[in-house]
Amino acid sequence: MTVYSALVGCGGMGLRHAHGYFELRKHFADVKMVAVCDLHESAADYVASAVEAATGDRPAVFTDFDRMLDEQKPLDMVDIVTDTRMHHVFAVKALDAGVNVLTEKPMGITVRACQAMRAAAARSGKSLSVAENYRRDPMNRLAKALIDGGAIGEPYYIFKAGLSGGSALMHDTAWRGLKSRGGFLIDGGVHESDLLLYFMGEVETIYAVTGLFTPMRKRQGGLVGNLVPFYQHRTEDVFAGQSTVEIDQEDTAFAVLRFASGAIGTYASSNASHGYHVGVNTVHGSSGTIQLPPSRSGIGPRIHLEGREEPIEGDDLLSLVPDWELDDLTAPFWDGARRLSSYDQDFPATDRKIIGLEYLELARAIETGSTLEVGPDTGMEALAISYGTLESGLSGQPVRMSELLEGEVEEYQSEINESAGL
Ligand SMILES: NC(=O)c1ccc[n+]([C@@H]2O[C@H](COP(=O)([O-])OP(=O)(O)OC[C@H]3O[C@@H](n4cnc5c(N)ncnc54)[C@H](O)[C@@H]3O)[C@@H](O)[C@H]2O)c1
Repeated sequence: MTVYSALVGCGGMGLRHAHGYFELRKHFADVKMVAVCDLHESAADYVASAVEAATGDRPAVFTDFDRMLDEQKPLDMVDIVTDTRMHHVFAVKALDAGVNVLTEKPMGITVRACQAMRAAAARSGKSLSVAENYRRDPMNRLAKALIDGGAIGEPYYIFKAGLSGGSALMHDTAWRGLKSRGGFLIDGGVHESDLLLYFMGEVETIYAVTGLFTPMRKRQGGLVGNLVPFYQHRTEDVFAGQSTVEIDQEDTAFAVLRFASGAIGTYASSNASHGYHVGVNTVHGSSGTIQLPPSRSGIGPRIHLEGREEPIEGDDLLSLVPDWELDDLTAPFWDGARRLSSYDQDFPATDRKIIGLEYLELARAIETGSTLEVGPDTGMEALAISYGTLESGLSGQPVRMSELLEGEVEEYQSEINESAGL
């Protein structure tokens, strides 16, 4: 069976998804990208040309999603990679038209948007998968196997602190500073929320303080680092031409969490850390501590046990989890390797392997009905943790996950819901 796919949103991440599709095609030829869509024809054209150069087939180019959904036949899945405010709009339309959905994270712009997406998946019987890439890194798979296998004893505390940024705009994209479009603590924060869920299980309560400390952000005049090749063709749609942008979503949060297991955690996040960056990711257990890997770096986890001077790292970790291996869908992307304790390749190679896997997982679910790792419930829970931080920051009160998921706590989100017509 061939799974016919269309991509909507041909900006930076849209191009990265096209590269994920190329990677997928190296191993499995039964997914075909037949259409691409972006408000900006030049961006859609750019990605269509990249697909043509890599596969020999040029996808049809659209600038209107509704038209694409109507005219592109057959169509089995849409891959939604627009900025976050459109995820629910396109997902609900696609699902109601009987088309399966892969959506970038955050699943939706608010918890209410996620509820609408989940309801559409349920009534259509079609699949909705959230492209949460961090957990799919083989090093995070290994870290989870070590924690679940008791390598640090009973885990009781997770410590996550990521303080970076400064006065620059994240990814040099202005929408990332806007509350109505999913600012930094949502766009970047949801990755961390998903990892909190992945490593520690369900969250019960969140208490946080939050603030906006660097509202005036300088445009960098282009990206630096790993993302340069992916963001040059995109068109800025807000504050275009302005060298300084005023953002309106909080840029810093400090949260304490209690998990259903009884474990606790602290989560500190900022993209207003000037001149010095901090990254700490550890899980502490009754007999040791694990340093979690920096996602997509290739660096493996490291374990420190009480009473042992040297940390356990590299292949020595594998003997602690004799049964752990990458699953049948993941291993082909890693040259067939089943057991890895580190890997060495550039960021784009890692990125496209993981995105290729996200495509494959949904394609297999369409073909065989297999379950999705990050479906609507998990995608919504991750977003609820991120909004829980902002809701608690606004009210000054602890919030319960059950209230966030039921929509009983949504004061912070109300203005966003209103502007999105939710
Ligand atoms: N998983 C990750 O590591 C990761 C990394 C970056 C971005 N993302 C996610 O991917 C999504 C896109 O981010 P990005 O960095 O590519 O942003 P971007 O601004 O570069 O690209 C978004 C694209 O969507 C298009 N678009 C917006 N509204 C549209 C509409 N109504 N119809 C058609 N096209 C429309 C824009 O024109 C733009 O080209 C976001 O949800 C973001 O959170 C995920």
